[in-house]
Amino acid sequence: MGVVGAGPAGLLLGHLLHREGIDTVILEDRSREHVEARIRAGVIEQGVVDLLVATGAGQRLRAEGLVHHGIELQFAGERHRIALSDLARGRTILIYGQTELVKDLIALRLDDGLPLHFEVEDVSVHDVESERPRIRYRHDGRDQELECDAIAGCDGFHGICRPSIPHGVLSEFSREYPFGWLGILAAVAPSNDELVYAHHERGFALLSLRSPELSRLYVQCRPDEDLAEWPDNRIWEELQIRLGLEGWTLAEGRILEKGVTGMRSYVCEPMRHGRLFLAGDAAHIVPPTGAKGLNLALRDVRVLAEALVDWYRSGTTTGLDGYSETCLRRVWRAEHFSWWMTQMLHRADRDDAFGLKLQLSQLAYITRSEAAATSLAENYVGLELV
Ligand code: FAD
Ligand code: PHB
Repeated sequence: MGVVGAGPAGLLLGHLLHREGIDTVILEDRSREHVEARIRAGVIEQGVVDLLVATGAGQRLRAEGLVHHGIELQFAGERHRIALSDLARGRTILIYGQTELVKDLIALRLDDGLPLHFEVEDVSVHDVESERPRIRYRHDGRDQELECDAIAGCDGFHGICRPSIPHGVLSEFSREYPFGWLGILAAVAPSNDELVYAHHERGFALLSLRSPELSRLYVQCRPDEDLAEWPDNRIWEELQIRLGLEGWTLAEGRILEKGVTGMRSYVCEPMRHGRLFLAGDAAHIVPPTGAKGLNLALRDVRVLAEALVDWYRSGTTTGLDGYSETCLRRVWRAEHFSWWMTQMLHRADRDDAFGLKLQLSQLAYITRSEAAATSLAENYVGLELV
């Protein structure tokens, strides 16, 4: 198997297949340092945690990850707890940085002595409609070619696998949002035990964390926001306003990292062409408000690994034939949930007084109605996404 991309999807796929005796070569165009330093998601659904632990990839995650039983929604000057595990049949979430998970998966792979090539150049895929698809790339100053049984396109949204599929094969569905998130990692103990999703007239803010010593915080901004316009004191000022609450203070600390992420929803169908299988962000993107991107990527490769194992063992293609459909059912649920959370919590147009009233009504309904809160909780913990 050839795997393009050493993000969470490609690395976990390599790990799951190795456990079943199937060889993979993983090709990554960035350096190991770059891949291990990229700060992204932080929330892992319990079902995904269970998969990682059961397959031997969850040792550090189990020791260092923080189990959360709820989240808080803040609006109109008040904070309301959503008791996730009470509402969603005991399910919890784990706070563990994607960066740490990627480090764990890379270490496992290198300890096992398996091929994982960083800084490969000019990756391209060929003959995916044939029985011997090939990947061409440049590595160590030489042009190389890898002949495969199948190829997994785990190269993220900007990768080369999806664009290599001939025009007209895929149907694409997307939505762009007129805002982004400015995210920071700060050396300060989190000011709240649980995540706070804050609706505010000035725009959304999120209080999250990485460890008892590290806070992760976001403010809604323009999608093309210039970070130069956001000195540290402006970021803290904005966070204080949007997360501020009577009788509670947001502790500030040294900002270790900051970045802007645009927001987009995107799905391509099917997630397969011939012997090229797309997984994770290569096939779909969600805005981060529902914390689903990483979880979807890991769930895709579980389905793909099981289908590939059946194929290698008994020649049956039932799993591979159903791969796209199986994943897309879950993907569309997560797409809806992420879009719904996003439009409920962000200000798209500051003059839209009608939209603001609708958001506040919806938020109030969630905090008053157990049925509405249950719906949010089931989706957030991934109960509906199995
Ligand atoms: P990726 O993590 O994108 O991995 C793809 C890999 O392929 C990368 O290592 C890339 O370098 C490599 N690659 C690309 N092109 C090539 C090529 N031509 N050849 C070889 N390798 C290639 N989700 C959340 O749930 N919460 C968040 O807070 C959150 N924040 C995010 C912030 C940012 C800036 C981004 C981009 C995403 C964020 N996400 C978040 C989404 C989440 O991180 C992704 O859904 C997750 O990383 C998907 O994993 P993946 O393995 O499919 O793709
Ligand atoms: C994060 O901690 O980075 C995080 C948490 C929840 C989200 C998005 C990002 O919805």
